[in-house]
Amino acid sequence: MKILFTGGAGFIGSNVVDALIGIGHEIVVVDNLSSGFRGNLNPNAKFYHLSICDKELSTIFERERPEVVHHHAAQIDVRKSADDPIADAEDNILGSLNLLTSCVRFGVKRVIYASTGGAIYGDVQYPPADENHPVNPISQYGISKHTVEHYLYLYSALYGLDYVVLRYANVYGPRQNPSGEAGVVAIFATQMLTGQQPTIFGPGDKTRDYVHVADVTEANILALERGTNTILNIGTGVETSDQEIFDTLAEVLGYQGPPVYAPLRKGEVYRISLGCDKAREELGWSPKLSLKEGIARTAEYYRALAQRSPAK
Ligand SMILES: NC(=O)c1ccc[n+]([C@@H]2O[C@H](COP(=O)([O-])OP(=O)(O)OC[C@H]3O[C@@H](n4cnc5c(N)ncnc54)[C@H](O)[C@@H]3O)[C@@H](O)[C@H]2O)c1
Repeated sequence: MKILFTGGAGFIGSNVVDALIGIGHEIVVVDNLSSGFRGNLNPNAKFYHLSICDKELSTIFERERPEVVHHHAAQIDVRKSADDPIADAEDNILGSLNLLTSCVRFGVKRVIYASTGGAIYGDVQYPPADENHPVNPISQYGISKHTVEHYLYLYSALYGLDYVVLRYANVYGPRQNPSGEAGVVAIFATQMLTGQQPTIFGPGDKTRDYVHVADVTEANILALERGTNTILNIGTGVETSDQEIFDTLAEVLGYQGPPVYAPLRKGEVYRISLGCDKAREELGWSPKLSLKEGIARTAEYYRALAQRSPAK
């Protein structure tokens, strides 16, 4: 299949692109490298250094004629979305609309959209939250990501554009940027490996649902063929506290010190996990990696990275 992949230089996108190329798909990446890296790009993918907001995007569709679009490009920083909600909406809403307009115009059959389960349900009323849980984002980022789901529903009804929305939990694994504001596994691992003391915001009992990028990649591959006009949570259904992440990484990496406990940050969800029965039924997907194994693999990646570029 010929697939146009937005955000293919980013953490999740580049992992999915590698897997898609590995099973023989032809990939065209569109990425503006705002948070992604050229080094993440698969050398067998065709690359366009462009924003999804750019009007030029339609000429790429005209030239490439993709059958499927995987849409991972986004402004992903919750704090930036609060500081500059207009820029966040420009990338995440207007950029997505620009993309979907080309999808309709150039006869794309299916769109797979990387949405968020972690940022749209708000503080969950019942964990694990399934897809029928009320949507009450408590960040501008959550609103901008959710808005695109409405356009997908509409464009499927109006123009017959098929879609699968994957609402990810907290994804972790190789290539996650440790200097981002989220991504606690990457941040803690890098800090432990470079002799810095990790900071836990709050007393350590805040929970998230952590899903490894290899499992997320598998869901993306299955969504190429399965699931029709549907929204699916992609997580584990398990709540893991900040303290458990810290302790597991400390054990794997042999880190001895305690964390710093700082005050909670505003606008953060306190508890969350995602129910994923629907993805099991519709995609035949379920997460395979336990947290312990996923963290051990991820820690190995950051250890190798730290050895290649030791802290100065
Ligand atoms: N990491 C998570 O835990 C998580 C959870 C839920 C949803 N998601 C979603 O998954 C997707 C990928 O996230 P990630 O963690 O890999 O982030 P990332 O920042 O590593 O990847 C995003 C990519 O999109 C590119 N990009 C950003 N704005 C763009 C634009 N206007 N035009 C073209 N390219 C642009 C960036 O350069 C980057 O390569 C995002 O849509 C994000 O909202 C991620």
